[in-house]
Amino acid sequence: MVATIIHGPEVAEQIKKELREKIAELKGRGVTPGLAVVLVGEDPASQQYVRNKAKGCEELGIYSRSIILPVSTSEDELLRIVDELNADPAIHGFLVQLPLPKHIDENKVLMRIDPEKDADGFHPVNVGRMLIGNPQFLPATPHGIQEMLVRSGNDPEGKHVVVVGRSNIVGKPVAAILMQKRKGANATVTVCHSRTRDLASLVRMGDVVVAAIGSPRFITADMIKPGAVVIDVGTNRVDDPAAKRGYRWVGDVDFENVKEVASAITPVPGGVGPMTIVMLMKNTVIAACRAAGMHS
Ligand code: GUN
Repeated sequence: MVATIIHGPEVAEQIKKELREKIAELKGRGVTPGLAVVLVGEDPASQQYVRNKAKGCEELGIYSRSIILPVSTSEDELLRIVDELNADPAIHGFLVQLPLPKHIDENKVLMRIDPEKDADGFHPVNVGRMLIGNPQFLPATPHGIQEMLVRSGNDPEGKHVVVVGRSNIVGKPVAAILMQKRKGANATVTVCHSRTRDLASLVRMGDVVVAAIGSPRFITADMIKPGAVVIDVGTNRVDDPAAKRGYRWVGDVDFENVKEVASAITPVPGGVGPMTIVMLMKNTVIAACRAAGMHS
């Protein structure tokens, strides 16, 4: 079997079309949705996200602000910037890029974000709302994965989804979203992680495998049940002297071999990444609609 490739940009384009209509309606009422991104330090993957987010905003006519701070920024200084964004009427949603430098308490920063402007859905109020099935903002990458599955004809309903990775950004929330009793979810979910015993045999039970480990080509073809759907969330920068820039991005899945076993697979790049961006735009539009007293 050779897998169908699930192209992130194609699925993202369907959602962009829906968003453009909403944005036009907002602009008709004099409201331009605004998204701010705060980046502390120089992590290359984070810098790439921030560039892509700005590009996504430009394409849809969303006002975008990138606040790039040196790695030496103090926790107090960052909290002051969060307070300013909370109070800024031009900004409907914003996020602080993670990971933060070690001297800054991530939880303290996330707790400071107004839950009504929490474009990432990382504030404990929004995490709780997601878990109990009454979401306000869903985290962009996990929500993008759900949309990708459903819109590519791979509805997770009744299937066994094996998530590899238990981060607060992807592993935990994607499990919480896909196990909900609702349309586009209703999956049986197993979460594996670095301490899982016999991880390969658990992954092999998955009808859908979500790889969010952060380790290049960790998931190999022998771990995949023939016909499974494989979603690769990895963005690992690996050195490649043959590449123009001296590096390239690879996923957590050994794409070349796994595609011979799976029924559908997402590539890296061009898979989950574009979905994350568009779902972030969606959260910004939802926040702007709410601020304007409009139905989202
Ligand atoms: N780091 C990696 N992915 C994300 C994300 O979706 N949001 C934030 N804030 N940081 C990240």
